[in-house]
Amino acid sequence: MQTSWGSLYDEILSCERCELCRKIHNKVPGQGDPNTDLMFIGEGPGADEDLQGLAFVGAAGQLLTKMIAAMGKTRDEVYICNIVKCRPPQNRVPLPEEAAACLPFLRQQVALVKPKIIVLLGATAAKTLLRPDFRITREHGIWEERKGIWFMPTYHPAALLRDEPKKKDSWHDLQLVMEKMKELGIK
Ligand code: URA
Repeated sequence: MQTSWGSLYDEILSCERCELCRKIHNKVPGQGDPNTDLMFIGEGPGADEDLQGLAFVGAAGQLLTKMIAAMGKTRDEVYICNIVKCRPPQNRVPLPEEAAACLPFLRQQVALVKPKIIVLLGATAAKTLLRPDFRITREHGIWEERKGIWFMPTYHPAALLRDEPKKKDSWHDLQLVMEKMKELGIK
């Protein structure tokens, strides 16, 4: 039987499936419209997210908000979450076993939201959800359809803040998402 949002969030908040939960201030389950067709998945909470318990509220989050606005949407109209729900120390990339331990939560979130499109923000999301040898520089902007869901891998907003010229590629990827939304009749 499918879990409810309430029990899923409770499970996340009490999770001790890996070591990441030992040194955090808050779990960051994710937030947004639970009935949206459009979902964004990042890597893991940073310092601001850890303090607030909310996904993508720091500098990268502010850029993500602008990216979503450029697509004609607001953050409240999409669902935003991460591969891992606890901040890795010093913002290191989550270990594959940490991502694997957290993955059942993400799968349940996807099952509850039932998005038509998932935008994968950065290599960690693409490696975890598409394949471990995914190369974001080479393979961003290429659709992959899995079980009726369209996945669009693109750069993580933090990478765009570090390397501004990548923004052009990222905008191209987001335009593909907007085209697909039109094609699928997503408002
Ligand atoms: N980076 C992420 O991948 N996720 C967040 O929530 C914030 C920064």
